[in-house]
Amino acid sequence: MVIAALLLTGASLTASVLVLQVAVIPLVFKYSKSVQRKIVFSNCINYPKNLDFESPSSCNVLGGRNCKIQFQSTVDDGPIKLGVWHIIPCSLFRELFVIHDCLTLEQRLQNELKKSHNTIVLYCHGNSNHRASPHRLTLYKVFQSMNFHVITFDYRGYGDSSSVRPTEKGVVEDALQVYSWLMECLQGNDKATVILWGHSLGTAIAANLVSNLDELCSNRGSACLPLPKALVLEAPFNNLVNEIERHPFSKLVSWLPYYKDSFLKPFSSSSEYNFTTDQYLSTVTRLPVLILHSKGDKIVPYDLAVKLYECLKRSRGENGAPLEFHVFDKGHNDICEAPGLPQVITKFMNTIKSREAVENNNAM
Ligand SMILES: *[C@@H]1O[C@H](CO)[C@@H](O)[C@H](O)[C@H]1NC(C)=O
Repeated sequence: MVIAALLLTGASLTASVLVLQVAVIPLVFKYSKSVQRKIVFSNCINYPKNLDFESPSSCNVLGGRNCKIQFQSTVDDGPIKLGVWHIIPCSLFRELFVIHDCLTLEQRLQNELKKSHNTIVLYCHGNSNHRASPHRLTLYKVFQSMNFHVITFDYRGYGDSSSVRPTEKGVVEDALQVYSWLMECLQGNDKATVILWGHSLGTAIAANLVSNLDELCSNRGSACLPLPKALVLEAPFNNLVNEIERHPFSKLVSWLPYYKDSFLKPFSSSSEYNFTTDQYLSTVTRLPVLILHSKGDKIVPYDLAVKLYECLKRSRGENGAPLEFHVFDKGHNDICEAPGLPQVITKFMNTIKSREAVENNNAM
């Protein structure tokens, strides 16, 4: 009796899973923009919870300050507030935290950024969670130990930033605001090297920003901004449609005859996102690009990064800016733990510097 009941429950469970897979999920997916949005941005996943972003040290960040950037959004038609951290190089700890003068810590750090000769990384995080997510903190520590400054922020809808529904145009506007805030800080400083760094979905956001920089600036009625010195793409995909097709989630449903129609079409014809990194970056051939990817990446398969690399290589031809591709033996979120990472970054930075020196010589 009990066994029969168990078997029956089992059978009906299997049947309901099947109905879910075959009918409900595709329909929900096709007709619910909000489900699509959740898959792309995953900003409802918010771990660790209950952090005090105002105090970076309480979030396990040493040598950081919290900043806020506020502006009028032209995308969402209202005020937006972004949570930002500025994290300083290890070499400055003693000077900025131990020696005291009449300035506040915030003023000291701001002054330091203004006159810095160090590399400054502007970090665009990927989907889900916020700027204090553990693997992101690990990467900031790598940057700090290389004596880089880090600027990291949350897009709208993430962390302590305004809780406005994210879209591609919205999060790119946020990245632009932080970039222009940084460029303003650095006005008159021609010694600092700014690198734009994206991880996962953040690579597509950073790519959109550099590719449309002039247009984005003129849309907000401000002067054009210079490109960063380099763009680093950590675990990038070539474009969102290919990524959705290859995402582990797709394996559940890709055998369905109407898979393409209900799963891929909404992404390829959506007005909310393109995230076509391959197309964006084909137009910025002057910008040095470093691609980092792991063979064991289960979220963004390795071959999508290869496709991106090949596409960029074609677009650059012989005389384009440096384009490098480094492969790691890791997963999607742990390139930050690869022992060889600092060397890869240093080598790439040296390539850019020596190329710049040659160009300056040629110009003289
Ligand atoms: C996507 O691309 C189309 C065609 O280039 C463009 O009209 C649209 O504004 C883009 N959407 C986003 C969100 O960037």
